[in-house]
Amino acid sequence: MEIKKVAVIGAGVMGHGIAQVAAQVAKFDVVMLSRSLSTLEKAMGMIKDSLQKFHKKGLLTEDQVKETLGRIHTMPLSDLERAVSDVDLIIETIAEDIESKKNVLLQISKAAKPESIITTNTSSISITELASLISKPERFCGMHFFNPPQLMKLVEIIKGARTSDETINIVAEVARKMGKEPVIVKKDCAGFIVNRILMAALNEALNLFWEGIAERDDIDKACELGLNWPMGPLKLLDYIGLDTALAILEVLEKELGPRFKPNQILKQMVRAGFLGRKTGRGFYEWPQPA
Ligand code: CAA
Repeated sequence: MEIKKVAVIGAGVMGHGIAQVAAQVAKFDVVMLSRSLSTLEKAMGMIKDSLQKFHKKGLLTEDQVKETLGRIHTMPLSDLERAVSDVDLIIETIAEDIESKKNVLLQISKAAKPESIITTNTSSISITELASLISKPERFCGMHFFNPPQLMKLVEIIKGARTSDETINIVAEVARKMGKEPVIVKKDCAGFIVNRILMAALNEALNLFWEGIAERDDIDKACELGLNWPMGPLKLLDYIGLDTALAILEVLEKELGPRFKPNQILKQMVRAGFLGRKTGRGFYEWPQPA
């Protein structure tokens, strides 16, 4: 089956980047959907900025920037039925909340053509559980990108209990077409590969900070210089979004036990609206575009 047309549901931190890579690298026709028109506008602004960065580095010509933008269309989520009815692959990227994901996936499954493949960009939620909403669970799997999707090479492809091998092979090929390296997660387990390792480390950094063992900058510096991480764990939490990190840790705690219990500072910061880069403040201050 050849994938030509892709729908990306959600236009947030991950959705806009995935839509961009699908149009820019794989040259798919892309439709990106969001509940709010202002989110779609912001997402297109971020895509333009990112394409300009590639252009300034000589990696894309002006024509390629224009062609990429020409391949990305936007639609409100209220038009979901119309948007997904003729696409080959759907990538759901909405917030990491199981009820919201179930609700959207049910609508997608009802509207999508029978031979289409449906994927979810969840960081931690059970693929098998989400598959229960899909009329053809053999054509559903996890497709987990990393932030920023424009630069990060990995895509985890997660097999649910009823996902077919054919679906895994098609989605792995799509990831390669998007310039990514796929890894296959054979058993559907919370956190898959990366988040099971990463979230344990990030939560431990929060414990160090909360216990007053070291200052923010020294915790980050220690991992940057001692482990060669491109950014320290507290900065990375800001980058991922503290609400997203909390949601992932809560799933991991529920599924894998108290070793993943989120440090209370994370809950407090989320309640205070300090979500990291996307709201301008988390562990660091992040200047917002005008
Ligand atoms: N599009 C295009 N180019 C971009 C870009 C974008 N969206 N964002 C940054 N860049 C470019 C910049 O222009 C810059 O280019 P030059 O070096 O040529 O100037 C380069 O990338 C580096 O950017 P910065 O100087 O702004 O910052 P940096 O050196 O810290 O790099 C980073 C940014 C690539 C994000 C790097 O810090 C990094 O790799 N950080 C770790 C990211 C990570 O771990 N992601 C995984 C998070 S976990 C996850 O996503 C899964 C989950 O489920 C939670």
